[in-house]
Amino acid sequence: MPTATAIAHPNIALCKYWGKRDRALNLPAVPSLSLTLAPFSTTTTVEWGASRDELMLNGRPGTAEESRKVFAVLDLFDSWRPRARVVTQNDFPTAAGLASSSSGFAALVLAGAKAAGQARTVEELSVFARRGSGSASRSLFGGWAEWRAGERGDGLDSYAFEIAAANHWDVRMLVAIFDAGPKEVSSRDGMNHTQETSPFYPAWVSSAPHDLPAAKAAIRARDLEALGKVMERSALRMHACMMAADPPVIYWKSGSVWAQEVVRSLRSKGIPCAWTMDAGPNVKVLVEAEHAEVVRAKLAVVAERVHVLEPGGPARLVEPG
Ligand code: PMV
Repeated sequence: MPTATAIAHPNIALCKYWGKRDRALNLPAVPSLSLTLAPFSTTTTVEWGASRDELMLNGRPGTAEESRKVFAVLDLFDSWRPRARVVTQNDFPTAAGLASSSSGFAALVLAGAKAAGQARTVEELSVFARRGSGSASRSLFGGWAEWRAGERGDGLDSYAFEIAAANHWDVRMLVAIFDAGPKEVSSRDGMNHTQETSPFYPAWVSSAPHDLPAAKAAIRARDLEALGKVMERSALRMHACMMAADPPVIYWKSGSVWAQEVVRSLRSKGIPCAWTMDAGPNVKVLVEAEHAEVVRAKLAVVAERVHVLEPGGPARLVEPG
């Protein structure tokens, strides 16, 4: 049976994706920008031509919902495709505060295309990964990636691309864990609810695209202070928008606010660093490598655990053998 295996790293958005212009095609209302992070990774094997569709996720059978999403993405390769067996494994704890869906769907589409014997461009693969999870469109790429919102109704222009490679800038992303439990509200439900009920949503959609040029210029110039301003603004506006939903969506815990204060205090002492948060209470702090240990030690005082991650490379196939 044609089989292929791929590895991808998760990513964290610095300019956030929140809200959809098309739910069925998973098209974003705003562009976003992220950093792909090693060493955490997902390894996924696709066997094309199995006796039935079967998903194994971290050593257990996938749930009906997980399986539906995975096989709907494989259907994009060929609506008459043979059945497939998918085995996917994260080498990081699901409670590590990072979205395994970003690395998971990126590895799935890369392995899926190879197993199906299809030569696809990386933009096509990014479009396919996006259908599984928006942020996965960015995990095909190493380093710094932008995901364009696109304008086409069919979404074929809504894919990610690399802005700068992993070795462009020696930074670290520290992930401060405050709650290792599963999310209370999924990003998909949180987004849809915000879009439907937050009076701030139109302001979010009209302001967010302006963050991209500023973030890209800061990344090119390796200017953490400038990038930090954009990062925190993007995270704060996204969370403000969801906090204004009815009922509110509040992912923050007290520890999230402590970590933000640690970052501001370090900054006032001359250490450039900036935070971001996603659909959960954990706080991710961007810092240059030379300051990573100082920042980690301060975060470790308030957090349950701190992971230290670095820019990772693009999703890649694993040669058999
Ligand atoms: O791609 P999803 O559906 O997991 O949503 C990601 C949402 C955020 O993590 C909050 C922001 C982002 O751009 O990754």
